[in-house]
Amino acid sequence: MEQQSTVLVLGASRGLGLALTEEWLSRGWRVIATVRRPSDQLDALAARFAGRLEIESTDINDAATVRSLRQRLEGRGLDVLFVNAGIARAIEESPVSAAEADFLDMMLTNAFSPVRSVELLRDLVPSGGTIAVMTSELGSIANANGSWQLYSSSKAALNMLMKGYAAQHAGDGHALLLVAPGWVRTEMGGADALLSIEESIPLVVDMVEANRGKPGLRYIDRFNRPLPW
Ligand SMILES: NC(=O)c1ccc[n+]([C@@H]2O[C@H](COP(=O)([O-])OP(=O)(O)OC[C@H]3O[C@@H](n4cnc5c(N)ncnc54)[C@H](OP(=O)(O)O)[C@@H]3O)[C@@H](O)[C@H]2O)c1
Repeated sequence: MEQQSTVLVLGASRGLGLALTEEWLSRGWRVIATVRRPSDQLDALAARFAGRLEIESTDINDAATVRSLRQRLEGRGLDVLFVNAGIARAIEESPVSAAEADFLDMMLTNAFSPVRSVELLRDLVPSGGTIAVMTSELGSIANANGSWQLYSSSKAALNMLMKGYAAQHAGDGHALLLVAPGWVRTEMGGADALLSIEESIPLVVDMVEANRGKPGLRYIDRFNRPLPW
C-alpha cells in the first residue's frame, strides 16, 4: 500500500491556511496544522477527518514554539512544509503616515519568521520534498504599482530571504516555492477580492503537487506560472 503523504501547514486557524488543510485532507493526506489559539473551524475538520489531522500550537514569531514543534515531530518525514502565516496592517499607509510598529510587525511575521521557521524545520523534509511559503503577487518588485506598499515590501523581503536560503541550502534537494495565491476573499483579502477561497486553494495545491521532486526556488502563481521578481 502506498504510504500516506504528510503536510505541515503553519498558520491554519482560518482563511487560506484552513482551506489548504481541508484541501489536503480531502485528497487523502495526513495533515499537521498549527494554530496560535484554538480554532473551532479546524476542530471541526479534525472531527470530520478522524485520525488524519493533528493540531499543534505554534506562533512563528516565537522561535521557542517552533523549536518545540520541531522536537515533537522528531522522526516524522514531511512531504510538504507549507508556511502560510501572515498579516496585513496599514494597507493604505505610506512610511510617512504608518505607525512604525505596523511595518515592523509585518516584516517580522511575513518575512523574518517564515524563513526562520523554514530553517528550523527543514530537516523534517527529506530530499525530494517540498517547502512552500505563502508570498503574494504584491511581493513582485518588477510589477509593483504602489498598492498595499508596506505589506508588499514585507513580501518582497520574504522573497529575498528565500533567495538567500535557497543559495545556502542548494544541496537539500527541496522544491522551494514562493506561492502567490491570487487576491482572495478572506479576513485579510477583504470582501472586494477577486477570488473565492474555492477558486484559489485547489489550484494552489495542484501547483504544489506539480512541483514535487523538482528542486530549486521558484516564485509562482496558482497556475504554476513564474512571476517576475
Ligand atoms: N487573502 C489574500 O488575498 C492573499 C493574497 C496573497 C497572499 N496572501 C497570504 O496568504 C496567507 C494567508 O492569508 P489569509 O488571507 O488567509 O489571511 P487571514 O485570513 O488573515 O489568516 C492569517 C492566518 O495567519 C495566521 N498567523 C498570523 N500571524 C501568525 C503568527 N505569528 N504565527 C502563526 N500564525 C499566524 C493567523 O492565525 P490567527 O488566527 O492566530 O491570527 C491566520 O491563521 C498570508 O501569508 C497572506 O499574506 C493572502
